[in-house]
Amino acid sequence: MKILLIGSEGQLGSELSRALRNRYQHVELTEADLSNKQPNKDRHFVALDVLDRKSVLSLIEEGQYDQVYHLAAILSARGEAHPRQAWDINMNGLFNVLDACVAHGVKQVYWPSSIAAFGPGTPRIDTPQSCFMDPVTVYGISKLSGELCCQYYHQRFGLDIRSLRYPGIISYATPPGGGTTDYAVEVFYELAKSRQYTSFLGPESRLPMMYIDDAIKATLDLMEAPAEKLSIHTSYNLGAISFTPAELFEEIGQQWPGARFDYAPDHRQAIADSWPASINDEQARKDWGWSPDYDLKKLVSTMIEGVKSLQLS
Ligand code: SER
Repeated sequence: MKILLIGSEGQLGSELSRALRNRYQHVELTEADLSNKQPNKDRHFVALDVLDRKSVLSLIEEGQYDQVYHLAAILSARGEAHPRQAWDINMNGLFNVLDACVAHGVKQVYWPSSIAAFGPGTPRIDTPQSCFMDPVTVYGISKLSGELCCQYYHQRFGLDIRSLRYPGIISYATPPGGGTTDYAVEVFYELAKSRQYTSFLGPESRLPMMYIDDAIKATLDLMEAPAEKLSIHTSYNLGAISFTPAELFEEIGQQWPGARFDYAPDHRQAIADSWPASINDEQARKDWGWSPDYDLKKLVSTMIEGVKSLQLS
């Protein structure tokens, strides 16, 4: 199987590349991103700017890929600092990839959406798969628009494109990358350096979250699900755990005593306040058997072990 992974150096991409190699023994994997952060002679890496339409088209034409994972994006908080650039990368990048996949017969495409596609008018608790959506960030607007584009390319061109609305993803292999949920990654990095963390979200900000291994499992399970089982062609709600900063820090304190936590909410608080507190993912469970493995305790112990192994101090 030939796979192209665009956005290979990001939080998801860096772990998905490993998972694809482990899951599929005979995979021929091409990884693409702006620059190669993990030079390794065993990787087939291509430098790619998703806004360079010609390069996207020719890479996908030459590669004759069976699957394309398109993960390159600017996240919520960084997107608010650079709204025009976020829109360009998130939307025009998506169009370039989708057009190339249609033109060159790619069999399956994956593209991530997010809880950021929801907004303040959305029911916050147990947020349903289908409901009113009024995202307030450029990132969220691009995710909601992108979901509709995926459905459009599916209906109009028959493209088999699959998508998940990820909650905040927690992992340690890459440093936090400009998201609002990233306080829950940053805290582990900071504690490894100084045993002190000041949260940019207030103590009661409840958000849906997920350990990276669950996100990768969901992604690969969705891609392997028989097409006829899938009833959603925008993007599937995906839930695992929901916690507040206070609950996370309490659990960290139990497992890694001696840390000090403070709160200094900033502009990212308003973004968090516009997002769901918990997600209803019944449809994903029903259609392709989704069920997460990590609870808060297991997530915290894995993250502590992980950041300690990075030897950041
Ligand atoms: N984790 C993302 C963010 O905070 C949401 O998808 O921007």
